[in-house]
Amino acid sequence: MATPVVPSSFRAFRVHVDGEEVRRTVEELPFESLPDHDVTVRVAYSSLNYKDALSASGNRGVTRHYPHTPGIDAAGEVVASRDARFAPGDRVLVTGFDLGMDTPGGFAEYVRVPGDWLVPLPEGLSARDAMALGTAGFTAALALERLAFAGVTTDLGPLVVTGASGGVGSLAVALAADAGYEVIASSGKGSAAGLLERLGASERVGRAALSDPSERPLLKGLYAGGIDTVGGVALENLVKSTRVGGGVAACGNAGGAELRLTVYPFILRGVALLGVDSQHADPETRREVWRSLAGNAALRRALADPELVQETTLEGLEEQVERILAGGVTGRVVVRP
Ligand SMILES: NC(=O)c1ccc[n+]([C@@H]2O[C@H](COP(=O)([O-])OP(=O)(O)OC[C@H]3O[C@@H](n4cnc5c(N)ncnc54)[C@H](OP(=O)(O)O)[C@@H]3O)[C@@H](O)[C@H]2O)c1
Repeated sequence: MATPVVPSSFRAFRVHVDGEEVRRTVEELPFESLPDHDVTVRVAYSSLNYKDALSASGNRGVTRHYPHTPGIDAAGEVVASRDARFAPGDRVLVTGFDLGMDTPGGFAEYVRVPGDWLVPLPEGLSARDAMALGTAGFTAALALERLAFAGVTTDLGPLVVTGASGGVGSLAVALAADAGYEVIASSGKGSAAGLLERLGASERVGRAALSDPSERPLLKGLYAGGIDTVGGVALENLVKSTRVGGGVAACGNAGGAELRLTVYPFILRGVALLGVDSQHADPETRREVWRSLAGNAALRRALADPELVQETTLEGLEEQVERILAGGVTGRVVVRP
């Protein structure tokens, strides 16, 4: 295969922060501005995650140094490599680590990363589908693995997915339904009902079902547990409503970071509260999970649903960043730089 030619400059979606003011533009950057890592990748697709919107808003908990290029996900082709494991022409993907946090991310035509961050794109998975899954699909798969490992079996009862119309949520619905769970999708978007049903949810409940704070240490044990992307009161109520031997995988904080619980769900019902961290997953886990995602026929069919996956360009990101911050994105947004 011919060695790809690298340009002298490339386009990137840049975020500038000056005091309280945040400015986002698409800019031409010199190729030498890429960081001094071993593998340079031409980005075919990236994707928009909630964390990217935080980075694009000047959130110093995600990104300390600006100007900055967000994008915690990228998939494409290696164009240069000082790492013996990768050669020009290899198709790869990267999610998490420091990409898009303080390392310039996937909202650009090129990224340069350490070889340890890269996963070979599994056979049969396109760069677009890989990014339609992205950190969201990877996280949903990790959450399901955690539940299975904790013994939360499909016969224990229904599994609740909160923030079900969001990126992690929608893919968690699809994966859990495909794994044989009865899935209850908790969502604030009535408009997503059809999509959630097509993804395999057997029931949809509004956000209100889990959003009333309760002083009671335990609620009626209704569920095998769940995959929570919302945090706060929703996570509290989910843990309190989980049956004996069930478990809840905590992925996110779209609705709050506080957690007020007693020990009773844990010591009276043996409920497992399982943390999910996609950013620091080890390379072996990454390869295994991506292979399994690539081989999941139901998931691949779901990705063809235009309501689940939308596409945007670097120029279109500004609008999508505002939408995801307002909780208004359904499913996944892939970015084609
Ligand atoms: N642990 C990890 O490794 C990991 C990885 C990826 C993401 N995350 C976290 O998981 C969360 C979801 O990420 P995402 O990329 O899927 O974001 P997303 O696409 O914006 O999805 C979040 C969903 O949460 C619901 N929501 C939004 N605001 C809410 C509020 N105030 N109260 C209750 N529900 C609300 C909405 O779904 P409905 O309208 O359907 O209710 C929204 O679509 C974020 O907190 C993100 O940081 C963690």
